[in-house]
Amino acid sequence: MKSFLNTSSDGKVMIDRVFKAAVAAKEDEIKSGDIVVNATLGTLFDEDQNFVAFKSVWNAFKDIEDTQKAKYASSIQGNIEYRESIYRWLFSSIDEKMKAEIIATPGGAGAISSTLKNMLDPGEIAIKPSLGWGPYKTMAAEFGIKLLDYNMFKDNYFDIESFKEVTNKVMKEQGKVLVIINDPCHNPTGYTLTSNEWDQIIEHANILSASGPFIIINDIAYIDFNMKGNDWKKHFKKFNHLAENVMAIIAFSTSKTLTAYGARAGAQIVITKNEERLNDFKNAAIYSARSIWSTVSNGAMSLFAKVESDEKIYSKYIEEKQYYVNLLKERSEIFLKESKENSLDIYPYKEGFFITIKVEDNVYKETVYNRLMENHIYTVMVDGGLRVALCSVPKRKLMGLAKKIKDCM
Ligand SMILES: Cc1ncc(COP(=O)(O)O)c(C=O)c1O
Repeated sequence: MKSFLNTSSDGKVMIDRVFKAAVAAKEDEIKSGDIVVNATLGTLFDEDQNFVAFKSVWNAFKDIEDTQKAKYASSIQGNIEYRESIYRWLFSSIDEKMKAEIIATPGGAGAISSTLKNMLDPGEIAIKPSLGWGPYKTMAAEFGIKLLDYNMFKDNYFDIESFKEVTNKVMKEQGKVLVIINDPCHNPTGYTLTSNEWDQIIEHANILSASGPFIIINDIAYIDFNMKGNDWKKHFKKFNHLAENVMAIIAFSTSKTLTAYGARAGAQIVITKNEERLNDFKNAAIYSARSIWSTVSNGAMSLFAKVESDEKIYSKYIEEKQYYVNLLKERSEIFLKESKENSLDIYPYKEGFFITIKVEDNVYKETVYNRLMENHIYTVMVDGGLRVALCSVPKRKLMGLAKKIKDCM
């Protein structure tokens, strides 16, 4: 019988591993109480296990007029103040002009998804890291795009050789490359590329772009939790040195930056030397916006612009956020030290919300995951391992956790 759904949507089921693991942890918490370690949630929790909503941000939201929150956004591309604030947020530490177009999107997810949709045809290949955020797969499947992985690490550093090999192969086969790089504070490992690694990526992209368009999606969802703070953003200056046939799309999100996960505000920040192609991208992105979600939340855009442009609110925000950057560092130090002491194999962590324990075999990974749950420890199964969300586990529960995990292996 003919289905109600069309052929590309028929049979699609969204299985959210994080949600599933989080529900199991919640149920166990009700039964077993404080012995439960819920390391599943990718949102910030304080040391008393309360969800963190930055006061500096959410007090500012209360001061935004109801009418402003209720109104439609002033443009499909995103409010002008919002776009200007994003420009300053990302580029003000750079001493030269960044030629970029900015398009508001519902979160970082909207930015990545719309980019995939508009850059590749169904059946074409996008390249992603071997360890990476699950929804990249969902998004690619939604648009009938195939995926190929570059290996993320070799000897605890970025595997640049694999990156070159896979991008060369795809360029040869389809005459176009689109590659996702989630940096800094990579989800799920907490790795941040070195400046030299970025230089090698850009040098390679510039050379390979002689054979066809080379698109880099730089997913920066966790950027404001890197330990260098705004100084890290000088990195973007490198995008001023892209060859004519290279385009970088920075996928920005206010979800982690402002603890505004539910507000759904993000952006595509597009950089390329080729003005005509820059304009084409902008037009296609605005068209997609109008046809899928229309405009981004006016209140959320106003909130970001307010936090960025009001000096008092901004300095309070920076202070508040820094407290959590420091807390993440303290939490990571506990877990890293104890992992070493207990020979627990983890991927190279530098900063950010997550650490991932290396378990390459999928069957064994599931066994360990289940054993951990029997011991009231809840992680998330990701490609290549088990993710521990430092962002949601207090220090007292991280103490001794590496050993408990090792004992289940
Ligand atoms: C790696 C990565 N990229 C992008 C996002 C997008 O988040 P949002 O759509 O909430 O902005 C997330 C959120 O968890 C993420 O972990």
